[in-house]
Amino acid sequence: MESRFGVVLVLILAAASSSAQKNCTCATNRRALCTEDTFGNCLCTLVGSNQRVNCSVLTSKCLLMKAEMSTPKGRSFFKPEHGFLDNDGVYNPDCEDSGIFKARQCNQTNTCWCVNSAGVRRTDKGDTTLRCNELVRTNWIFIELKHKERSKAFNASEVADGLRQIIQNRYKLQPKYITAIEYEYPFIHIDLKQNASQKSKGDVDIVDVAYYFEKDVKLDSIFHHSNAFNLSVNRDPLDVEGILIYYVDEKPPEFSMKRLTAGVIAVLAVVILTIITGIIVLVITRRRTGKYEKVEIKEMGEMRRGQNL
Ligand SMILES: *[C@@H]1O[C@H](CO)[C@@H](O)[C@H](O)[C@H]1NC(C)=O
Ligand SMILES: *[C@@H]1O[C@H](CO)[C@@H](O)[C@H](O)[C@H]1NC(C)=O
Ligand SMILES: *[C@@H]1O[C@H](CO)[C@@H](O)[C@H](O)[C@H]1NC(C)=O
Ligand SMILES: *[C@@H]1O[C@H](CO)[C@@H](O)[C@H](O)[C@H]1NC(C)=O
Ligand SMILES: *[C@@H]1O[C@H](CO)[C@@H](O)[C@H](O)[C@H]1NC(C)=O
Ligand SMILES: *[C@@H]1O[C@H](CO)[C@@H](O)[C@H](O)[C@H]1NC(C)=O
Repeated sequence: MESRFGVVLVLILAAASSSAQKNCTCATNRRALCTEDTFGNCLCTLVGSNQRVNCSVLTSKCLLMKAEMSTPKGRSFFKPEHGFLDNDGVYNPDCEDSGIFKARQCNQTNTCWCVNSAGVRRTDKGDTTLRCNELVRTNWIFIELKHKERSKAFNASEVADGLRQIIQNRYKLQPKYITAIEYEYPFIHIDLKQNASQKSKGDVDIVDVAYYFEKDVKLDSIFHHSNAFNLSVNRDPLDVEGILIYYVDEKPPEFSMKRLTAGVIAVLAVVILTIITGIIVLVITRRRTGKYEKVEIKEMGEMRRGQNL
């Protein structure tokens, strides 16, 4: 009799704890696996690295990329074993325990390269003898958005306010790191600048902010579903159809084919084509001035040299 009562109790406890587990989610990372411990704390770990994540802050880009690579995408159709899918330069990176990128990254075929703090390649590819002495910091992220055509342009100051609020509230980036937001129908330019000396311990890194933002814009948000992304300008939805992100490092990149001259500041650019409307829209435009000339473009994971924008 007693033992049967015990069994019932265990079953009730099991039911209670499984319903509690359902409730335990990670606000800043919907891909994290969460369970409640015996004290009712929600503990979340990442697929891919089994690393504990703090769900009150953004997860680092390196750990996110790692989790992404180990999560099967879409349906489980048969894929050729050696098939190569280029998904916007996402690779399975090596991360430090702190979550940042290791300065040197290698793929399975022992091809190695050095990356910046955004995980973007900044040297030629080499073999396993390649040395990367330090992780060079990306201290400037230049984002260009293109919104869908509409009958009339948005109000520029309202665009800037809306974006500033999103970046501050959703990604918790301090306003001092948002150094510019400009609007020229239908393009929006955002500058995020944060150098090592400015960044204090609790500050979110602009690299992680940019990655969360990129994913939000591509309608593949990393946040939990309850925290939907809603970009609107004075209640009008701002439908982004393209995003372009440039990563500028503290030090110039080290490519052997040195077409880079002194004074070149822009280092690497990743072109990301967004497919939201079902149409790929290329957002490279001719700029008014020569301001962004001599930008190295890394498009879809491949480097093209000396291309002007
Ligand atoms: C479960 O989630 C709901 C709504 O999000 C919340 O009100 C409730 O307190 C949560 N319960 C527990 C046990 O965390
Ligand atoms: C998570 O991050 C917040 C904000 O930085 C911090 O206050 C908190 O102690 C962190 N939690 C853990 C478990 O590290
Ligand atoms: C590793 O990188 C080299 C050079 O880019 C490439 O040819 C090779 O296919 C890559 N191997 C894997 C497994 O990704
Ligand atoms: C843009 O919006 C601001 C604030 O809502 C307003 O003060 C300003 O007059 C508007 N500008 C134009 C050109 O409509
Ligand atoms: C860091 O940024 C601040 C403000 O933009 C600038 O004054 C300072 O010179 C920068 N420091 C370094 C080491 O680049
Ligand atoms: C997005 O936000 C605007 C204003 O805050 C609101 O009017 C609109 O209904 C929201 N849209 C969605 C889909 O939540």
